[in-house]
Amino acid sequence: MKIHEEYRAKHAKSAALWERARAAIPSGITHDIRHLTPFPVYVERAQGTHKWDVDGHEYVDYWMGHGALFLGHCHPAVVKAVQEQMARGTHLGACHELEVRWAELVNKLIPCSEQVRFTMSGTEATHLAMRVARAYTGRTKILKFAGHFHGWHDGAVAGVNPPYEVPMSAGVPGATLDQVLICPFNDIKAVETALGRGDVAAVILEPAGGQAG
Ligand SMILES: Cc1ncc(COP(=O)(O)O)c(C=O)c1O
Repeated sequence: MKIHEEYRAKHAKSAALWERARAAIPSGITHDIRHLTPFPVYVERAQGTHKWDVDGHEYVDYWMGHGALFLGHCHPAVVKAVQEQMARGTHLGACHELEVRWAELVNKLIPCSEQVRFTMSGTEATHLAMRVARAYTGRTKILKFAGHFHGWHDGAVAGVNPPYEVPMSAGVPGATLDQVLICPFNDIKAVETALGRGDVAAVILEPAGGQAG
């Protein structure tokens, strides 16, 4: 296919890294979203609104670290703060004033937030949210929507990709998958019916339509 040939020719260093990655990393990628045909571009550095790949191509970055980098890449204030903290220690294995200040700031910025639990990833966050909902309500089912993605833990792999009856991954016990109810998006009747069962602990959805488009 001509377009693939052109892509390969322009991205020779990415192609070489892709060969190494396929041997060293399952599926060759470190996040599902980076699966690209024929292979992904390997980015070397970024600054502000732009990033550059290993073959020297420059890109406008509309992705911005999955939305996390709202100050852009390498904002001078962020770089300075991180460098200063690196020199003072990284994993202190202890409580630190910064965690308290950070939690206080989040509580101030988000009106409904009373307390904060920090997690390392979105997967951990939804895992925790489901557990808290189950503990609080004493119910077990989680209602989600077909095509919505909430991470890769066992409780979140149902109903992500079509056909929605098949989970995103093998290796998850049926008893766990059975705890997830899947509704079509924008079908309020289906939601009312599911909630009418009386055993739903929480409803989880991608309001901005990330995975679902
Ligand atoms: C809506 C949503 N929830 C959960 C996750 C999982 O986050 P993480 O990749 O940090 O585990 C993602 C990641 O793309 C997401 O888009």
